[in-house]
Amino acid sequence: MSNYKSLKNQRFSLGNYSIVPIRKEDRYDIMKWRNEQMYHLRQSELLTKKKQDNYFYTVVADLFEQTQPSQILFSYLEGEKCMGYGGLVHINWIDRNAEISFIMNSSLEKEFFEFHWINFLKLLEKVAFNEINLHKIYTYAFDLRPRLYNAIEQAGFGFELELKEQCFFQEKYIDVKIHSKFNKKNEIRHVKFTDLYLTYSWANDQKVREFSFNKDKITLKEHASWFFSKLENTNSEYYLLEVQGVAAGSIRFDLEEESIAKINYLLDPKFTGKGLGTYLLENGIQFLMENRPLVQMVYGYVLKENIPSIKIFQKLSFNEISNDTSELKFEKFI
Ligand SMILES: CC(C)(COP(=O)(O)OP(=O)(O)OC[C@H]1O[C@@H](n2cnc3c(N)ncnc32)[C@H](O)[C@@H]1OP(=O)(O)O)[C@@H](O)C(=O)NCCC(=O)NCCS
Repeated sequence: MSNYKSLKNQRFSLGNYSIVPIRKEDRYDIMKWRNEQMYHLRQSELLTKKKQDNYFYTVVADLFEQTQPSQILFSYLEGEKCMGYGGLVHINWIDRNAEISFIMNSSLEKEFFEFHWINFLKLLEKVAFNEINLHKIYTYAFDLRPRLYNAIEQAGFGFELELKEQCFFQEKYIDVKIHSKFNKKNEIRHVKFTDLYLTYSWANDQKVREFSFNKDKITLKEHASWFFSKLENTNSEYYLLEVQGVAAGSIRFDLEEESIAKINYLLDPKFTGKGLGTYLLENGIQFLMENRPLVQMVYGYVLKENIPSIKIFQKLSFNEISNDTSELKFEKFI
């Protein structure tokens, strides 16, 4: 196996899965998979063994020697068996960003497509963010495989842009979607006008509605009128949580007097189950205290069946002050 001069570590692992500098021994498997999957690749003719050898002995061999190569390619392994390949391509060392490329053994796609994409992205993030300190990584994917967008979003990448009829492909123009992730810590910021559609999609999400007091579906018009009135209302503090640059949830404090605020918060269901609900409430209150130093007490109502939220309020030492039949009230002096 060759080593990349541009990397300190050469192997990145998660359980039984690893990525290692692309191995020469995997080149014909890769050729076979690329030829089978030409329909979604920027590859116009079938690869042959001769062409593949030539690519490995010239282009790939050079990548190992450069300190700032344009691509860093890996074999994706289960144990030591190659299951796919990919890496960071079009690396821009000045702007510190790179596109992601990945294909898996074609026979795995039907059953394990999402699993391997998400796994590979987690591994590649270690290289991009921990090893070479890129600022942003993104996928640039033809609108041909709906499952791909689903997998990328499950891996915490945010949809950034749609390029209409961007590529001429098999006699027609097709759209390209770009999803990205940033090398950033979690951040809580004020909600902006441009968050209208995002907050609308959360408001109508089935999982979010399940624990809402009002279960009816909301129209965009209703949401827009509510959303803009909250933004204009000086008695409302409305914040958004971004995780690695991707919007993950919101928290709102409606001030009743200068010193009391009612809490409403939610997470995008793609981001639940990772401790972020607790993070959002705890840090949302911190941000509120910076913006509204006069607030002394915060409280929230929770449906009795909303176990995650009850646990969060309890963990953050809120007092449970009423015991209605269907909902609980939690409050805390800050
Ligand atoms: C409330 C909400 C933000 C919680 O998100 P989350 O990702 O589960 O939050 P956390 O990961 O911090 O988990 C909270 C706790 O609930 C637990 N939990 C999560 N789902 C659970 C379940 N189904 N059963 C039991 N416990 C559960 C977690 O294990 C965690 O407890 P722990 O820290 O002791 O392990 C999210 O569910 C949401 O957006 N719900 C819709 C809106 C809402 O209910 N808002 C609150 C009312 S204002």
